[in-house]
Amino acid sequence: MIISALKSNDPKDQRSPIHPDTINTLTDLGVEIYFEHDIGNGINTSNSLFEKMGLKGASREDCLKKSDLIISNQPLKISEIEEMKSGACLIGMVNPFANQELIQACAKHKINLVSMEFIPRITRAQKMDVLSSQANLAGYAAVIESAKHLSTALPMMMTAAGTLKPARVFVIGVGVAGLQAIATAKRLGARVEAFDTRDVVEEQVNSLGAKFVKIDLGETGQTDQGYAKELTPEQVQKQKDLQSDVCARSDIVITTAQLFGRPAPQLIDNKTIDKMKPGSVIFDMAVESGGNVEGSVADEIIVRNGVKIIGISNLASSVSNHASLALSNNYIHWIKDFYDKDKASINFDFNDEIIKSSVLVYENDILNERFK
Ligand code: NAI
Repeated sequence: MIISALKSNDPKDQRSPIHPDTINTLTDLGVEIYFEHDIGNGINTSNSLFEKMGLKGASREDCLKKSDLIISNQPLKISEIEEMKSGACLIGMVNPFANQELIQACAKHKINLVSMEFIPRITRAQKMDVLSSQANLAGYAAVIESAKHLSTALPMMMTAAGTLKPARVFVIGVGVAGLQAIATAKRLGARVEAFDTRDVVEEQVNSLGAKFVKIDLGETGQTDQGYAKELTPEQVQKQKDLQSDVCARSDIVITTAQLFGRPAPQLIDNKTIDKMKPGSVIFDMAVESGGNVEGSVADEIIVRNGVKIIGISNLASSVSNHASLALSNNYIHWIKDFYDKDKASINFDFNDEIIKSSVLVYENDILNERFK
């Protein structure tokens, strides 16, 4: 079996789907591994290092044409799907809700498509959860980036030249990214408050030494996969109104609120921004899925009344080495768990919950109802 790892086709994505620290687990399976030339450029890993580890450098075209399984951090182009061997498997981040044509093309060309975004949220699959592994690093990076744009320091400092007050950070949305943002801001000495519509996270917020902001929105809750349920327009308005005072007293507001498969809710409007102090920072981590903040733009810093509104796409890529290490582990765990050594191929056992959920296309059929 030939497995190929492709370089990202997005110049802003510095991550690699393979990493020198994890590759042994894959080579130990006895498979042949190709990598697209220069795949390690964004993680300071040369072609020759991968070659020394037993991998073969190849052109993108060769990887596409020769492989039985392709790993890619980014969705492929339709023309690239057409180049792949019929019956081969494509595994990676597919961004399926925005790439329905890719799903159709895989079905047409008999490419078995594994979307890592659809790894089920069960304990056994945590090691394969790309959304969590990347959101965790993104939460860290959001705090570091926000701190760079603040004209004050985060920790309290008692100096001969006077006492410097700690920065106040407000995190909206306490999933994987939000929890890491809280932990990072706390480590840097900030005073942290947080809010989420899933009240089960209150305990987690408190355990990190932050304060949970109580906003009563009536019935909210979460799905059986742990995702937030969508609020009614009235609830969103109530949330905006009740959290605006917390935003106004904060130096940094980090928003991470997402709804799986749907646009992110807008939670901060211009009315709230205009109440905030000049010099404060809003970091919209949901900017790529519609944005939590009015006026935020991906990869731009918008300034409104002295408040900086930051949106950075693919935030995990700013810590590309660790992001690649985590991603490659996620992919390798999936491959290892379903690789059949005797048949030298993937065992698509649809009785397995992980296969059932993550395989979107199998042998010309689109399996997931949402994309049929
Ligand atoms: P996500 O990226 O979909 O959303 C981020 C956060 O935004 C969530 O905590 C959500 O509740 C919150 N949110 C949505 N609407 C909001 C609003 N109007 N106001 C404030 N917050 C709002 O979620 P993520 O981070 O991927 O995971 C959510 C939860 O799923 C985790 O906290 C965890 O409990 C569970 N999970 C379970 C896993 C497993 O068992 N394998 C793996 C990963 C997560």
